[in-house]
Amino acid sequence: MPSLPKTLTTAMADTVEQVEAAIEVLLPRTSLMEARLFDAMRYGCLGGGKRLRPFLVMESARMFGVNPACALRTAAAVEFIHCYSLIHDDLPAMDDSELRRGRKTVHLEFDEATAILAGDALLTQAFEILANPETHEDAQVRCRLVAGLAKAAGPRGMVGGQMLDLIAETTPLDIGAITRLQRLKTGEMIAFSAVAGAILGRAGSPQHHALQAYAHDLGLAFQIADDLLDVEGSQEEVGKPVGRDNVAGKATFVSILGVERARDQARRLAGQAAQHLEIFGDRAEMLRQVAHYVVERRA
Ligand code: IPE
Ligand code: IPE
Ligand code: MG
Ligand code: MG
Ligand code: MG
Repeated sequence: MPSLPKTLTTAMADTVEQVEAAIEVLLPRTSLMEARLFDAMRYGCLGGGKRLRPFLVMESARMFGVNPACALRTAAAVEFIHCYSLIHDDLPAMDDSELRRGRKTVHLEFDEATAILAGDALLTQAFEILANPETHEDAQVRCRLVAGLAKAAGPRGMVGGQMLDLIAETTPLDIGAITRLQRLKTGEMIAFSAVAGAILGRAGSPQHHALQAYAHDLGLAFQIADDLLDVEGSQEEVGKPVGRDNVAGKATFVSILGVERARDQARRLAGQAAQHLEIFGDRAEMLRQVAHYVVERRA
């Protein structure tokens, strides 16, 4: 008898466990003189986080029958970049935050300079992981992963979005400009995560495009939910300070549309995201469910 499909909660919990184990292997404890750097990297990426981006990598890869070990290395590389972005985002020069994933931020647990270096080190090691033949036997696939992640994380992706986010503290932005900001800041990394499975599985362009369209809407829905949690969530639930966007005077979907319309918009985007997965049939059930999860989540 075929086994029943796993629920989203179980599947996400499995990913959390697998990613944790993979990071332990990629980033073991060391007794080198510069151990403090590795300790800060481990502190910044072990023991917390929803691991949403790794989950998208694992699920999209599963749809194309990719070797799970290869997918997991790709997932870990994406999570390294994500954790680096959080470490730097929390620095005094940026959001000046003291809490992340329910614990002290890296610059407070260690010090600012070490936090900067830990972020730099996670960023660079991510590409070392992708370039390794253990990630995929085909060098062309590895090259596409490297180029895709570099674009998603760089000036035309997350870093560009973070720059716009700083500008948004002092410059009034309209809804179009905020949409672009969020797409860069959060959307591009989420999009790469969802498309990574298609790259690893050498899928055709209709599959590629469907995942791209899915992730486009999902990323925006995800960031609107993050902005809603900043207004409505509690620090205990989300594991990071709340109410900061407003204090910083940051223009967000919530500040422009208000809570109700922002939530409606996020739900509409999640529904639209799920519709893009039609060509995959039942295989995409987890990705469909995750679209609804990102807007209804409390953390
Ligand atoms: C937080 O991302 C930063 C944003 C891009 C909004 P997540 O909400 O995925 O954070 P973790 O990884 O679960 O801690
Ligand atoms: C940060 O966005 C997103 C990145 C790190 C790229 P936020 O500043 O809204 O994230 P949180 O709310 O601190 O997690
Ligand atoms: Mg920020
Ligand atoms: Mg922040
Ligand atoms: Mg936020």
